[in-house]
Amino acid sequence: MSMIRSVVRGVGAYLPAHTLTNADLAQMVDTSDDWIVQRTGIRERHIAAEGEVTSDLALNAARAALADAGLEPGDIDLIVLATSTPDNTFPATAVSVQAGLGITHGAAFDVQAVCSGFVFALATADNFLKSGSFKRALVIGAETFSRILDWSDRTTCVLFGDGAGALVLEAVPATGAADEPGIMTTHLRSDGRHKNKLYVDGGVSSTKTTGFLRMEGREVFRYAVGMITDVIEDAFAATGVTAQSLDWFVPHQANRRIIDASANKLGIAAEKVVVTVDHHGNTSAASIPLALASAHADGRIKRGDIVLLEAMGGGFTWGSALIRW
Ligand code: COA
Repeated sequence: MSMIRSVVRGVGAYLPAHTLTNADLAQMVDTSDDWIVQRTGIRERHIAAEGEVTSDLALNAARAALADAGLEPGDIDLIVLATSTPDNTFPATAVSVQAGLGITHGAAFDVQAVCSGFVFALATADNFLKSGSFKRALVIGAETFSRILDWSDRTTCVLFGDGAGALVLEAVPATGAADEPGIMTTHLRSDGRHKNKLYVDGGVSSTKTTGFLRMEGREVFRYAVGMITDVIEDAFAATGVTAQSLDWFVPHQANRRIIDASANKLGIAAEKVVVTVDHHGNTSAASIPLALASAHADGRIKRGDIVLLEAMGGGFTWGSALIRW
């Protein structure tokens, strides 16, 4: 049994200044505010400025998380950054963040699990902290999906946005108390048989281009709720937490209908669900830490609360995490 828990010390977020509304999109492709709101719940999303790259967004979110934690960059010895839209093919976007923060010790690397990336990064950092390899981690989700959207394809370009969010985790000796803070459990899954349902049609080794996001939306929808609820039930079974006893459900923000259907199937009360998809769109790996930051900043999530995270995305990949704040 692990003698260390990964405790959340701070949360931060960053959204690019420019907002693109559904009305703006209706000027670009054959769509409407009504259609987008009804099918997805999205009203607006943020778009990175020309020259503003994923590591810029990540760095701002990381600084905000460090300020929230009352820590200095030098206190961090691990950076795990989830993204599918890195600044460059290599090096990892995480090392740009590391350099931007002036950190020269420890390790920094990227994790790629598309929209599940933040949960995968969190589980990775948690395991490194619990093993004693590192002391304090920045776990970041940062994306500029606007760069891989086909802006002439109305079936995809209305769904996504840019942004970044970050958590600071600290390794703390476990007390064994039932109410001790920290990450309680994480569960990760993937099934590559579904890799062609949500993908980018380019890449270094295949086309030598970046490519554009392609999706069979209805197929993704068909699988999403079942995968999400399965991996949450795994988290409940591992901890004894229930839909009734948890305080907050902070799902990946892909689509309001998927969020509502998942919460409904699990019996999680609507007032416990944190929703930001209306203002952010789907920011892929950034969506969960952005939602966490918003519910932390406005005082909804308080110390001692049990917070359930969940994500599902390309691959398919999916995962859950339970945290006592
Ligand atoms: N505006 C207006 N009409 C649109 C449109 C848009 N932006 N996008 C598609 N349509 C049209 C389609 O062309 C289709 O028209 P047709 O019936 O004349 O062929 C009609 O709307 C219905 O399309 P369909 O794809 O069946 O709609 P849907 O109800 O499945 O909703 C999604 C589409 C993408 C919103 C929905 O499938 C979805 O949310 N899927 C999951 C996507 C997701 O969350 N992915 C990320 C996972 S991390």
